[in-house]
Amino acid sequence: MSNERLTIAVQKSGRLSKESMKLLAACGVKFNIHEARLMAHSTSHPVDLLRVRDDDIPGLVMDGVVDLGLIGENVLEEERLERVIKKQPSGFNSLRRLDFGFCRLSVAVPKEVQYDGLPALAGKKIATTYPRILENYLKQQGINARTVMLTGSVEVAPRAGLADAICDLVSTGATLEANGLVEQEVIFRSQVQLIQREEALSDEKQALVTKLLARLDGVQLAKE
Ligand code: PRP
Ligand code: ZN
Ligand code: MG
Repeated sequence: MSNERLTIAVQKSGRLSKESMKLLAACGVKFNIHEARLMAHSTSHPVDLLRVRDDDIPGLVMDGVVDLGLIGENVLEEERLERVIKKQPSGFNSLRRLDFGFCRLSVAVPKEVQYDGLPALAGKKIATTYPRILENYLKQQGINARTVMLTGSVEVAPRAGLADAICDLVSTGATLEANGLVEQEVIFRSQVQLIQREEALSDEKQALVTKLLARLDGVQLAKE
């Protein structure tokens, strides 16, 4: 039995949530959101929204559990690299890059530490939520450093004695500033993407995606 409703995964609460819902609304897809519920059914289209943690979105699309996802490229690339290593499905189709969720993944060090370029990181411990992207970067640059995986509060790791440096998302820079850290290397630039699962959709669903994309392009164009 096939579910003929198009499923879209979005971040439940966080940096991307509001803009994701605004984008769908601008495309004419209406929802009544109940805060406590994981699923929301559109009142205007055969579309179901799955409201989950951002980290889960790439995997849901790569496993074909949902049809579409709105996700930051940072989380998307980290999951893709992780799955390539584990030999798990890592395919998806990029439909559009969207003009929100801009941030960068940067290496930062405590301000009292002298930093004179990447070689200063050799032999050091770097705390991050993005170990695969960081390891790739360090390898490309020929730097031997250790990564320490933390899922949150990365910015306190140096002070807590867990690491010498961090590699975390930076948007305004306020978090680094508040924690006495100085941004030294930008290793990845990110914005939101709309992605689709690799396995083909039914003709009906694909036609709906095409229609939504046309609206989305109209919305994006109007903003320029
Ligand atoms: C990122 C990052 C910092 C903050 C940086 O967290 O981990 O905490 O944003 O932003 P700023 O430069 O404007 O201070 P995010 O909001 O993605 O949430 P998370 O850490 O809970 O994933
Ligand atoms: Zn997250
Ligand atoms: Mg944070």
